[in-house]
Amino acid sequence: MSPIQHHPIPNALSIAGVDPSGGAGLLADLKTFSALGAYGCGVVTALTAQNTRAVTGIHEVPPDFLAQQLDTLFDDVRIDTVKIGMLASAELIAVVAAALRRHRPRFVVLDPVMVAKSGDRLLRADAVDALLRDLVPLATIVTPNLPEAGDLLGRVVTDAPSDMRMAARELHGRGAQAALVKGGHGTGERLTDVMFDGERFVELAARRQQTRNTHGTGCTFSSAIAALLPQRDSIESAVRDAHTYVHSAIRAADTLVVGSGHGPLHHFHALWPHGVRGTDPETRLQP
Ligand SMILES: Nc1ncnc2c1ncn2[C@@H]1O[C@H](COP(=O)(O)OP(=O)(O)OP(=O)(O)O)[C@@H](O)[C@H]1O
Ligand SMILES: [Mg+2]
Repeated sequence: MSPIQHHPIPNALSIAGVDPSGGAGLLADLKTFSALGAYGCGVVTALTAQNTRAVTGIHEVPPDFLAQQLDTLFDDVRIDTVKIGMLASAELIAVVAAALRRHRPRFVVLDPVMVAKSGDRLLRADAVDALLRDLVPLATIVTPNLPEAGDLLGRVVTDAPSDMRMAARELHGRGAQAALVKGGHGTGERLTDVMFDGERFVELAARRQQTRNTHGTGCTFSSAIAALLPQRDSIESAVRDAHTYVHSAIRAADTLVVGSGHGPLHHFHALWPHGVRGTDPETRLQP
């Protein structure tokens, strides 16, 4: 019997950067884990000075201290599933890869974060090779957007279905069990994400939402997949349910009022009673 059946609530770990606005990075990952029935842990790779408009500074954690955070946590807590987000540098990538090889969590979702929604760079250009070499082969699933898939593969990846399929197949060929190429950066009314799991392609299509509030869509999607992998019987069904969750969170995003740039998704759209999000004192919950 797998340990998951003894412990029905999975322990999920996000290894990521901190976005103080709470829309992306570690804070968004913990909200997503919490919304989807996983207990959330977090190991910090970098602090950022960030709001919904821009990243104004990055303060990387020293590599030794990242290793210490990981080893200390894994020594005590059973981690069932890991989501990896912002890694900033090749040194931090090497530390995470070594820790994963030491501790061998069952599921690893690798979101190869390179550029924030605001356009600010989050991974040094020279670290892309390290990501491909050290971490992609350890991933249950890797989840690049179109520009990230292009950077990883050293060519332009467009939103043409055949191009996305080819990219997903190539990333699977680099050692990930599955690859999901996300189409949020494409053009057109409908957007499609394409997954390849070594056997079949799965296409997840949705209508593009007319909203500015798409900060952290990628972080939310990848952490939703991580939360659901131990709770579903296949990668495909975890990805399908994560896709439904992230799209509902995008649809509800405009009910939050956070900043004047790209605001966050509504991670708790299904959990909060309507009154809580209104401004009417009659319907707001009393403390
Ligand atoms: N405007 C939108 N309307 C509907 N779905 C969207 C929209 N933008 C992104 N998505 C969806 O959000 C998910 C994340 O994809 P996206 O390509 O935006 O990831 P990302 O670029 O990694 O995000 P981030 O900028 O947060 O890192 C995908 O399922 C994508 O289809
Ligand atoms: Mg992303």
